Amino acid sequence: MPNPSLLILPGDGIGPEVMAEVRKVIDWFGTHKDVSFDVTEDLVGGAAYDAHGVPLHDDTMAMAQKVDAVLLGAVGGPKYDELDFSVKPERGLLRLRKEMDLFANLRPAQCFDALADFSSLKTEIVSGLDIMIVRELTSGIYFGEPRGIMDDNEGGRVGINTQRYTTSEIRRVARSAFELAKKRNNRVCSMEKANVMESGILWREEVQWVHDNEYPEVELSHMYADAGAMQLVRKPKQFDVIVTDNLFGDLLSDAAAMLTGSLGMLPSASLGAPMANGRPKAMYEPVHGSAPDIAGEGKANPIACILSFAMALRYSFDMPQHADIVEGAVEAVLAQGIRTADLLGEEGKSPVTTSEMGDAIIAALGTS
Ligand code: NAI
Ligand code: MG
Repeated sequence: MPNPSLLILPGDGIGPEVMAEVRKVIDWFGTHKDVSFDVTEDLVGGAAYDAHGVPLHDDTMAMAQKVDAVLLGAVGGPKYDELDFSVKPERGLLRLRKEMDLFANLRPAQCFDALADFSSLKTEIVSGLDIMIVRELTSGIYFGEPRGIMDDNEGGRVGINTQRYTTSEIRRVARSAFELAKKRNNRVCSMEKANVMESGILWREEVQWVHDNEYPEVELSHMYADAGAMQLVRKPKQFDVIVTDNLFGDLLSDAAAMLTGSLGMLPSASLGAPMANGRPKAMYEPVHGSAPDIAGEGKANPIACILSFAMALRYSFDMPQHADIVEGAVEAVLAQGIRTADLLGEEGKSPVTTSEMGDAIIAALGTS
């Protein structure tokens, strides 16, 4: 087997700072576990614009299509705010998502015990929480036609958006969810509003079809999305993998993320169709942006980016035990009370820098 290939795109602002800490983890695997990755590094966002006049070079796009996984830091910043829309840093990210056709957005909500009191919910409700929300990303009401603001022919106006899902769009994201469930705890809960939306009826039928025909061994349940929202804050640990459409997924994944605390802790992945080697097209990235308010100050929390790499280990490289090691090191460091500034509520405690947090994680890895 060739080494897994990884394209690293640090991007702008704190992107390069947090990515430098991921590099330490990658190097640690090479030295201590004899696990090597074929890593290529390139530019995206404002950094690519500065070098090439475009937020993503064609050669970078071609490389992204070839590798087993892309790991992206963050793009954007005030320096680029005045740029023409077509070359804005975000366009680089959108081009990657679109041309790789990344239709399944994975947002874990995982609660590290040491941060359980950071949650807005009671500790016992969130401690040990580990759920995964799979949001359909490329279709649904954000894309459906017709759309627009039109005259209603009665002297007023009407705003229209259309929820539209095809059988194949539903089936492919359902497959992503079932595949994930097989790597986790074999449970999927699908959420829609089949009680009031025809697209929801089709969603429910097609998810059930994929289950019955392709993944009968995975446990499947269905829930109305509004009931799901209630259950998510009432008893979140009842869930493992949740699969839902673009709109409901947008809301549910943001709500679930906040069960567990800081933006600096949240990883994500976007997956597409399986490639020839069976691995899905994949891009991993922290949920946070380029944080221009703290960029260059060594204050950024690198954990979201390091956990994004751990997701790549688990879901692209089939190295779940290595993903466990990384997540275990993060847990250990947090348990020791080591905190970047974003994880410190009150004054008086002294935060560690980005690089010190990375070093602490490497030290914790050293004992695993
Ligand atoms: P942001 O996520 O960059 O920052 C929001 C707040 O969270 C800031 O106070 C920031 O300091 C803090 N924060 C974020 N990540 C952190 C980390 N790892 N450690 C510690 N603190 C952290 O969102 P914002 O300020 O709305 O956007 C800033 C720039 O980033 C904009 O140009 C925006 O377009 C871009 N952006 C890029 C994204 C991406 O690359 N995927 C996503 C969101 C925003
Ligand atoms: Mg959102």
